[in-house]
Amino acid sequence: PITRHYTFDVRMQNVTRLCHTKSMVTVNGKFPGPPLVAREGDRVVVKVVNRVQYNVSIHWHGIRQLQSQWSDGPAYITQCPIQTGQSYIYNFTIIGQRGTLFWHAHISWIRATLYGPMIILPKHGVSYPFAKPYKEIPILFGEWWNADIEAVISQALQNGGGPNVSDAYTLNGLPGPLYNCSQKETFKLKVKPRKTYLLRLINAALNDELFFSIANHSLTTVEADALYVKPFKADILLIGPGQTTNVLLKTKRTPPNGRFLMAARSYNTGLGTFDNTTTAGLLEYEGISKSSPLIRPTLPAINDTSYAANFSSKFRSLNKPQVPQTVDKSFFFTVGLGSSPCPKNQTCQGPNGTKFAASVNNISFAMPSTAILQSYYSRKSNGVFTTDFPSRPLIPFNYTGTSPNNTMVMNGTKAVVLPFNTSVELIMQDTSILGAESHPLHLHGYNFYVLGQGFGNFDPKKDPANYNLVDPVERNTVGVPSGGWVAIRFFADNPGAWFMHCHFEVHLSWGLKMVWIVLDGKQPNQKLPPPPADLPKC
Ligand code: C2O
Repeated sequence: PITRHYTFDVRMQNVTRLCHTKSMVTVNGKFPGPPLVAREGDRVVVKVVNRVQYNVSIHWHGIRQLQSQWSDGPAYITQCPIQTGQSYIYNFTIIGQRGTLFWHAHISWIRATLYGPMIILPKHGVSYPFAKPYKEIPILFGEWWNADIEAVISQALQNGGGPNVSDAYTLNGLPGPLYNCSQKETFKLKVKPRKTYLLRLINAALNDELFFSIANHSLTTVEADALYVKPFKADILLIGPGQTTNVLLKTKRTPPNGRFLMAARSYNTGLGTFDNTTTAGLLEYEGISKSSPLIRPTLPAINDTSYAANFSSKFRSLNKPQVPQTVDKSFFFTVGLGSSPCPKNQTCQGPNGTKFAASVNNISFAMPSTAILQSYYSRKSNGVFTTDFPSRPLIPFNYTGTSPNNTMVMNGTKAVVLPFNTSVELIMQDTSILGAESHPLHLHGYNFYVLGQGFGNFDPKKDPANYNLVDPVERNTVGVPSGGWVAIRFFADNPGAWFMHCHFEVHLSWGLKMVWIVLDGKQPNQKLPPPPADLPKC
């Protein structure tokens, strides 16, 4: 193992897409940001220097941060943001993980432009559980706004409505040929026949789950969220924000006559706002003529929930996983959108006193003004957060009931406290009252096992009988199905303060987030280490 040093200069850069040029926040002037490459076991040291007028912080999405809790990155959870002119050194060792992850800003909506791939190779001498690919290609999905993105979200939060949707999805930062004024901005993958390519797919989009497919080529999924899965074939993938998927692409025996579009567009069951635009790149065999026909893939309908559910059910852990077979603490969380009471002459409970909000168990998480991990470490939680996050919704939830109104929201900065090594079961139920939405829920500091999912009300009498306790997929982000539920389990073996939230940036802004505090264990390596000297101050 070695130490890999990086400097991330956060600075403004002019970038042009869709014939609009704007000055935006970048790392080292690049969009998407530079790849971070390491091997399992390596130490990664990234000096982040803030040269922009915004506060920033960077999260290493999916890295467990064992013994490096202060490097996780979410602003006001594990650290105060890095202020203009300041810097902070993220320093972590990659323990027991290899695969594709990504890094992104974790404050306000800065991650719209501040993200890049994280590629963790296996240890020297350790091979993949599949034949060595000829080439490995990161493919990052994102979104492009012609407008200034911080203005978009702050306006939406002030007015209390939904923010404007993006002007394009992007593939490796490029909208591609299906958008106006974007012909030149197309990602091209040049391939040779009879080869296997490993595509490292990363959904860094802000607000959309995406279907992805390559015309006339089938893909074999081999990994999800940097954990190997039993390989399975699927021509169309679904990938939620915060999820990463490695797929193998086998090229044809002889170069076919054609140029093949690889395309991604939204999966969205929402009632009002949907955006059926498509980002695309090109797969081209070497030596093929520019005039050969352009072949498009077929993607499912924008609201094809049965394709989505069927695809999600295909994932299985490759290696025999250590699934918690018994449960110490079980939780039932409703996740969804709602509207807060706005009593006369009092402010509403949504963000910035607005009516519209999102919540977990009816609580819309209010960001504290100093980092939760710091106040927990110094045992001075006074006023920063409370430890009474409920294990059940405040109002019992029932899809078929007539009276329960589960859209009620109250405000709070609440955490759940777990003793070290608690075996946790968590059912997340989508409330789906204001528009059907599925929610990609992401847990920091952990991977978890996905034991089961379904539609309608979770039934505590019947559904657990169908749990997969043998080879469930392990991941860090799971889609809570639109109008349904998902059951997960994990061992709370990583002490610290860990954010859990919907990876739709708009739901994150509206409060669909909460914090788990995991207490120290008895061994020295089971204790939260002291904060580094350069930890930013609020
Ligand atoms: Cu990828 Cu809390 O985020």
